[in-house]
Amino acid sequence: MSPLVRVENLRKQFGGLTAVHDLDFSVAEGEIVALLGPNGSGKTTVINMISGAFAPTAGRIMFGETNISGLPAHRIAHHGVARTFQLVRVLPSLTVRQNIVAAVAFRREPVWGQEAEAEAERLLSDVGLTGRGPEMAQDLTYIDQKRMELARALAAQPRLLLLDEWLSGLNPTELRVGIELIVSLRDRGMTVLLVEHIMEAVRALCTRAVVMNVGRKIADGPTAGVLADKHVVSAYLGEGHA
Ligand SMILES: Nc1ncnc2c1ncn2[C@@H]1O[C@H](COP(=O)(O)OP(=O)(O)O)[C@@H](O)[C@H]1O
Ligand SMILES: [Mg+2]
Repeated sequence: MSPLVRVENLRKQFGGLTAVHDLDFSVAEGEIVALLGPNGSGKTTVINMISGAFAPTAGRIMFGETNISGLPAHRIAHHGVARTFQLVRVLPSLTVRQNIVAAVAFRREPVWGQEAEAEAERLLSDVGLTGRGPEMAQDLTYIDQKRMELARALAAQPRLLLLDEWLSGLNPTELRVGIELIVSLRDRGMTVLLVEHIMEAVRALCTRAVVMNVGRKIADGPTAGVLADKHVVSAYLGEGHA
């Protein structure tokens, strides 16, 4: 199958620090792939380059047949890439519905007014927030803020969803809900690149895993094999993670 996203020789330097070093990997349409690695290994920097927050120092990012490397974030979003942030970003002083309506307005073909409100209700239902539109965003529990953030990402009608530790901070019950939500997206054909520290979630969701360490790729393959790889295990142990 031809990949939906293909990263080639991707590199990012911050001054003298090479955060991402000649990285290659791809994600096929409909796949959920984990991007793993100890803290500081460059995962968020990769997400930032794919989504257009940072331009790569070198290399290429192909999205379908389009070279999106270095395009501004809004253009990449219009090509069909959406993301969530490692720290939840919402508009706290707006209602839940207004948060989604605002995101719908940034689509390539924005919708407004009643149509946008109806679309917001549909998106809220998709993430398990049916009828919660009138509540203030800042009053939501953590899992519900996560759901709303996901609805904001889905509002862009992405083909590729980038989730940066979206499941972190959830309690065990919420984690199960979060995993099921991602499963429901997969069942609707969404392609997902998932940065995640919770191995239970990685095993449950990801057919394939790409592992980075200090900016470089150290493993890429079916999840179970990658997680058992001794280089991967020692990279995590080296950082103090058991
Ligand atoms: N905007 C930035 N400016 C300078 N250094 C950065 C910036 N973003 C990330 N880094 C550095 O790049 C490395 C990789 O960071 P990051 O991609 O956030 O890792 P991860 O998400 O895997 O924990 C770290 O050493 C980090 O300090
Ligand atoms: Mg990170």
